[in-house]
Amino acid sequence: MQDIYNVLKKHKQEHVLKFIDELNPSQSTELLQQLEQIDFDELDNLIDEYVMQEPEIKIPADLEPAPFFPLKAKDARQEELYTQAIAKGRELLQEGKVTALTVAGGQGTRLGFDAPKGTYPITPVKKKSLFQYFAESILRAGSKYGHELTWYIMTSGLNNEATRKFFEENNYFGLNPENVIFFTQGTMPAVDYNGKLLLSDKDSLALSPDGHGGTLLALRRSGCLDRMKSDGVEYISYFQVDNPLVSVVDPLFIGLHALQESDMSAVMLAKTEPFEKLGNFCVSNNKLMIIEYSDLPENLAKARNADGSLKFIAGSPAIHVLNHKFVSELTKAGHLKLPWHRADKKIKFINDNAELITPEKPNGVKLESFIFDALQLAGKTMVLEAAREEEFAPTKNKTGVDSVESCREMLIERDAKRLERVGVKIPRDADGKAAVKIEISPLAVIDDDDARSYCQTENIRKIDTKMDNIYLT
Ligand code: UD1
Repeated sequence: MQDIYNVLKKHKQEHVLKFIDELNPSQSTELLQQLEQIDFDELDNLIDEYVMQEPEIKIPADLEPAPFFPLKAKDARQEELYTQAIAKGRELLQEGKVTALTVAGGQGTRLGFDAPKGTYPITPVKKKSLFQYFAESILRAGSKYGHELTWYIMTSGLNNEATRKFFEENNYFGLNPENVIFFTQGTMPAVDYNGKLLLSDKDSLALSPDGHGGTLLALRRSGCLDRMKSDGVEYISYFQVDNPLVSVVDPLFIGLHALQESDMSAVMLAKTEPFEKLGNFCVSNNKLMIIEYSDLPENLAKARNADGSLKFIAGSPAIHVLNHKFVSELTKAGHLKLPWHRADKKIKFINDNAELITPEKPNGVKLESFIFDALQLAGKTMVLEAAREEEFAPTKNKTGVDSVESCREMLIERDAKRLERVGVKIPRDADGKAAVKIEISPLAVIDDDDARSYCQTENIRKIDTKMDNIYLT
């Protein structure tokens, strides 16, 4: 006890022990354990660098747009490469060398939903949750490629219990529970603008998830990297919990990643406008990097090519493939240097009188690391363009852009177009939108091939407008 007090005093943080005498043994152990996990010399550096001053966003002078493989092959050679990539991707899936990983540790504040985001009822007809929708796609991919997929889900201290409970209560949506692996990301203590640690209660620091960059170390600490190794997994298909449109495992993307011998790859989309809230793919000094939307200077965001297109056109839907080997190498020393990013937040805390304060404006700083900063640490990287309407419908806000509403519309459109491509007639209204709510279960269909055989087997030729909602399963 004296030891920790001395450390805290040296670093001017002894106020966190103010209520220690009022705690029962298990409460004080809890607080002491939290404190033991902090490297206080490092914390001092972080406070100096990120809290006591506005950290400078370093934009390299030689920043250029990143090259990428286009959606449509540009010539016969590239066409051939894409065909080979799809075959390679399927082969890797059949051999069980691929696993799916979802990051679901975030707080989902913008959605205003007081439960893990993955439990949000997202689908347009059946109101399946994001987790169920992914689970069913994973089941289908497993049976399609003849090798059950494992699914790693990263939670945080804030939602781990609720997430696990949701899966248990729903029988893992038909997945084998042994192949659904939860692991919890690390935390960072929040500090106020004077660099003082905040307490969320007498027995706890105000801790927050350490950002999705925390995935990498959490994979190692939790033993997930070992499990992947013993399962023979070489490739990790990574996506965010807020995007139900994503292909959970895309043979083209995975295969191209493997053929290009990339360590870490990324999907890109053409941005709809200069300030769309997507990370921007750039290169500097031959290194691929993502510069977050909030950090790209306005003149670069608005810069245009001679043909009028955006110069920095490539936005990130946060879909990656990472080599197991790359993650193992990066984390083998048990720590990993990714840069920190500062977020000014309203952080609930208890004051000197132990009253809980809920601030109305930001009162402190949380630090997060981002997984895409690992691109700069990779020997080889690859970026592949995807069609937005096929891959990206994020659920971030209640209404408007990137909302529940827009996500549902995109899910309907994707399924409608998929049916049309295989010859099914879809009623459309004057704006060209599907005139009925359509939802196809991923248990039956996860790609156009599935749609074709499904419609043949079920003899579906047209969708009837008289029905309000169509659910195909
Ligand atoms: C993110 C990306 C942005 C990308 C966009 C695409 C960041 C900083 N930016 O923006 O480049 O274009 O998505 O939709 O990520 N998460 C955790 N643990 C954490 C923090 C987040 O698991 O500690 C997960 C969330 O659950 C979510 C994802 O990471 O699945 C994204 O987090 P969010 O904060 O919503 O990122 P955005 O600002 O929307």
